[in-house]
Amino acid sequence: MERFTHYHAPESVGEAVAILAEHGAATVVLAGGTDVMVRLSRGAIPAGKTRLLSLGRIPGLRAIRIEAGRLVVGAAVTAAALVADPLVREHAPILAKVADRLASPQVRALATIGGNLANASPAGDLINPLLLLDAVLTLVSRDGSRDVPVAEFFTGPGRTVMTPRELLTAVSFDRPAPEKIFCFEKAGTRPSMECSVVTVGLAFTPSGGRLEGVRVAYGSSAPIPLRGRAAEAVLEGAEVSARVVEAAAAAAAGEVSPISDIRGGADYRRALVAEFLRRLLDPSFATRGAPRGSDHAGPPAAAPVPCSPPPAPPPAPAPGSGATVALRFTLNGEAVSATVSAEWPADRLLRERFSLLGVKPGCGEGECGACTVLLDGQAVNSCLVPAATLEGREVTTIEGLARPDGGLHPVQEAFVAAGAVQCGFCTPGMVLRTVSFLAEHPRPTDAEIARSVEGNLCRCTGYVKILEAIRAAAGGPSR
Ligand code: FES
Ligand code: FES
Repeated sequence: MERFTHYHAPESVGEAVAILAEHGAATVVLAGGTDVMVRLSRGAIPAGKTRLLSLGRIPGLRAIRIEAGRLVVGAAVTAAALVADPLVREHAPILAKVADRLASPQVRALATIGGNLANASPAGDLINPLLLLDAVLTLVSRDGSRDVPVAEFFTGPGRTVMTPRELLTAVSFDRPAPEKIFCFEKAGTRPSMECSVVTVGLAFTPSGGRLEGVRVAYGSSAPIPLRGRAAEAVLEGAEVSARVVEAAAAAAAGEVSPISDIRGGADYRRALVAEFLRRLLDPSFATRGAPRGSDHAGPPAAAPVPCSPPPAPPPAPAPGSGATVALRFTLNGEAVSATVSAEWPADRLLRERFSLLGVKPGCGEGECGACTVLLDGQAVNSCLVPAATLEGREVTTIEGLARPDGGLHPVQEAFVAAGAVQCGFCTPGMVLRTVSFLAEHPRPTDAEIARSVEGNLCRCTGYVKILEAIRAAAGGPSR
């Protein structure tokens, strides 16, 4: 049952905003796909949204640059790019660190900073450091552009000041002074893959024993990602003492308004906000000049997918009325073409049109990693990749991993030798994720190996042997 009657893949911002000027109210903007594809599979795209506009072919939206002394991050920059980018790592390491704790590696390769903002989830983790950095968002329409401070962008859960005619194109902020300290705490029920229960961020410049330029930010603690102005007022110009810390913690607890849901009660969240701020203000930490971007990273992270239970599906348009897209891309080393529904995920295309059954359909929401493929060499959840965005790209599935002579790939051999396979359902995803991981980390530590498969679930619980296999594929003993 197709919902979208039109698919747009503009190649410039001008082209995109021209479409939004005409059809903004009926258009869903597609950046990384990690949210839109989940909503689509849950039937949660609002009625009346009949057009899909992909930003994937606008290269300027994926750029990171310094402009007039400010760091400018394109709205389609992925979390993985934030982690790896030298400008971000040098000038805003807190943003890179928080991005590195966002969901799984496969999701980080897809999820974008603009998507995290535009979704306006109170749990959007990337928003917390942007509040600390006083970031400004650039909204462009056919009539011009405007800049909105991130603290003024959100109006409610899932709502922002952005109109349907506008496109979020960039996030920018002044490069912080080197002595400015940023820190961040978060709690999640399932490290790395669940929406955060609470996040608290703190930034300040130590000056003669006092705190200056204080910023406090909360996530999952109010209907919107929130700047902690009451706590800031207590801390600005103050010396860190037990009395000041308690006053700031009380102010923080008093200015948040968390909800109770399956992930945590309101009282628990309020207490966590106060406790996290106490930790971040620990005098030994605050006065020793901890390096910029240091964090007390607790359990990682929020997945950029809806945190609320799926609503009842709205009525869908009649079958056969949906937009289709003609594609050409490279699949397991061969040029292929296909015509596909604009709303099909890539896993469905690969299984149903190309009979690549090693692409396993699991959760369909970016949680299990069973559908992992390599997209331009990077492991991604193919259930979150709109098939229409594969145009011109290179996809490798487990079927394409073997050597030209038919022999197994070294990672496959390592899995066989370690006995890292039970039912085998998770194995293609584990192997492909490992291939991508070892390309980036040829000599990983045990800790890096353990984190490498945080986005891959093995229901047979064969993790010990899987980790042994990855270690063996990396060519070394434990480190
Ligand atoms: S992550 Fe795609 S099916 Fe589970
Ligand atoms: S081997 Fe069965 S799910 Fe992993």
